[in-house]
Amino acid sequence: MKLLVLDSYEEMSRVAGEAVLATVKANPHAVLGLATGSTPIGLYEHLIEEKKKNGTDYTGVTCINLDEYAGLGEDHDQSYAYFMKKHLFLGLGIEKGQTYIENDLAENGEEECLRYDAVLEKYPRDIQILGIGSNGHIAFNEPGTPFDKTTHRVALTEGTIRDNSRFFRSVDEVPKYAYTMGPKSIMGSKKILILASGEGKAKAIQELVEGTEITPDFPAGILRNHPDCTVIVDKGAASLLQERCV
Ligand code: F6R
Repeated sequence: MKLLVLDSYEEMSRVAGEAVLATVKANPHAVLGLATGSTPIGLYEHLIEEKKKNGTDYTGVTCINLDEYAGLGEDHDQSYAYFMKKHLFLGLGIEKGQTYIENDLAENGEEECLRYDAVLEKYPRDIQILGIGSNGHIAFNEPGTPFDKTTHRVALTEGTIRDNSRFFRSVDEVPKYAYTMGPKSIMGSKKILILASGEGKAKAIQELVEGTEITPDFPAGILRNHPDCTVIVDKGAASLLQERCV
């Protein structure tokens, strides 16, 4: 695993954005694995700004999202489908037909997970962007999720519901279930970038970079087994690390 510690959120976002751009420039038909949450917003802004300046063409890329709340519907302003349109797809001119996300209104959850696994098989990801939860979750894989899980439907933990309630009017409005790629699906990407910003993530980053055991109690730990994973953090998220490589 490679570690990059940058001075600020903006620098972290720029460096991660340049890695995504390099992937798209190397292959205009690249498959991008994308995350939602507050962490990648700066990266997405970087891509949109770069496109405005240089006209980078995204019409050939395919975008595959990690996860989606169950039951909100794609037009709900807190659905991840809506988030992606707002923060990335509109700015890059990416059409709906180029994007994949779990169908949160699917009638049969099991079938939906199988459908999504087939999408992942059809479109092997060149690069996967990840954030990390303060408890080490990646996507909606909470501590205890077996590492061999592919796409599955999960009951969200109280902690995650509380963390995510800042985006809803009240904690009661946060969905209780979600669909998510599993750890095994995430590991299937050729390259992975995991981003973290701020001191609230420092303990999770310490465990990710310096932890000794790889167990489902800390889901992000599995990334240490990936052949091409880069941890990109700002100073706050790196604040508990013993050694920093820049
Ligand atoms: C979002 C996702 C989540 C977030 C994580 C960190 O698609 O998969 O695992 O990456 O909860 O969220 P932020 O970036 O809001 O701190």
